[in-house]
Amino acid sequence: MSPRLGSEGTEAPLRVGLLGLGTVGRAVAEALLDAGWCDGVRRRGGRALQLVAVGARDPGRSRGLGMPASVEASSDLDAVVARPDLDVVVELLGGLDPAERLLRSALERGRGVVTANKALLAARGASLERLARWTGAPLRFEAAVGGGIPILTPLVRDLAATQIRSVSGIVNGTTNHILTAMTRDGVAYPDAVVDAQRLGFAEADPSADVEGLDAAAKSAILARLAFGVWLDPEAIPRGSSAGEDAAPGITGVTPQAILAAGDRGFVIKLVGRAEQSADGTVSAWVAPVAVARSSPMGSTDGVTNIIEIEADRVGRLWFRGPGAGGPATSSAVLADLLALARGEGATWGALPEAPPAAVSAKGWSGPWLDLKVDPGRSRFPLLAGPPA
Ligand SMILES: NC(=O)c1ccc[n+]([C@@H]2O[C@H](COP(=O)([O-])OP(=O)(O)OC[C@H]3O[C@@H](n4cnc5c(N)ncnc54)[C@H](OP(=O)(O)O)[C@@H]3O)[C@@H](O)[C@H]2O)c1
Repeated sequence: MSPRLGSEGTEAPLRVGLLGLGTVGRAVAEALLDAGWCDGVRRRGGRALQLVAVGARDPGRSRGLGMPASVEASSDLDAVVARPDLDVVVELLGGLDPAERLLRSALERGRGVVTANKALLAARGASLERLARWTGAPLRFEAAVGGGIPILTPLVRDLAATQIRSVSGIVNGTTNHILTAMTRDGVAYPDAVVDAQRLGFAEADPSADVEGLDAAAKSAILARLAFGVWLDPEAIPRGSSAGEDAAPGITGVTPQAILAAGDRGFVIKLVGRAEQSADGTVSAWVAPVAVARSSPMGSTDGVTNIIEIEADRVGRLWFRGPGAGGPATSSAVLADLLALARGEGATWGALPEAPPAAVSAKGWSGPWLDLKVDPGRSRFPLLAGPPA
């Protein structure tokens, strides 16, 4: 571990290198450069945070942030990570490359790492965890699931006394926005996608969201913390309501099906779920499902996310809030930085190392809502019971 990290009693600030000045990176930089924010969090304990370097393809992006000359702005991201005076690297680039290389380089140097990169964590989680444990460098990633919703640390820490049975949720705000627009306004799927793109809620290529890959990645991360295994996100079955040949996710959800579901008191939501059976088997899936409109999930609309946990002792818990956006996501990233400033370790806390594991091939075994509209396109797993 870096000699500076978590060393109690020292007043030396935690020196931070930030990679990426996009939606989230900019919000994080703004907070770290705001003396009032820094003073406020400092009063709650832990070492001060000090931004010492930012890495961006175009360092000119830092213009307007009011960065003092003492903060290095560089397009050489490897050189930022290699700075000998850094304690923590915050990776907010997204994607696998060069994020993986830079993150590994930081961990190898014993730096703490904070990331929001769910795609990278889900794809390489087991080997990144192994490396972090090997070098003793804490890796934190609260923002990778649910944006501003605290969910990973509560799973590990606050629910430690329970046996978690399932973690399911609406973890992709883009698809929830599209389905909400289709439900409220009766618009067809392609128009709802274009509208989401216009509002900045969907990427130019929305396939990772609408086909359920993003939700599968988040389900894999939730499963690691709830059930102690790293599932391969590509092996997590992604269901469709549009027949076996159709692209998975919400692409086949029709306005007719949504209307018919509404007549029966249900809404269609894209849900990712991971669960552990009594024999220890972990299974996971992502699919458009029918949930009662009056349920917590059914009443979660727009880009809002919700995660439902079923566990003994507590029954059902719901964590709902902003799943995306610069300010909300920066809240989770900054809280991870503050956790490191207080000497807390990795997001997995005291949990034992999680191995990679196969996803159980078990398909949906529960009840279905058969809407009998648009043949072949109208059967949805029924996740929540009928409205009371
Ligand atoms: N946005 C959200 O609401 C949200 C929520 C939860 C988690 N996250 C995660 O947070 C991370 C950042 O997301 P974001 O929305 O902030 O993304 P973004 O707006 O696209 O920002 C990414 C930044 O990284 C820079 N970058 C990417 N590759 C680079 C490279 N090779 N060299 C130098 N700079 C590079 C980009 O520069 P260019 O613009 O020049 O390409 C951009 O400034 C992702 O892992 C994402 O999944 C985001």
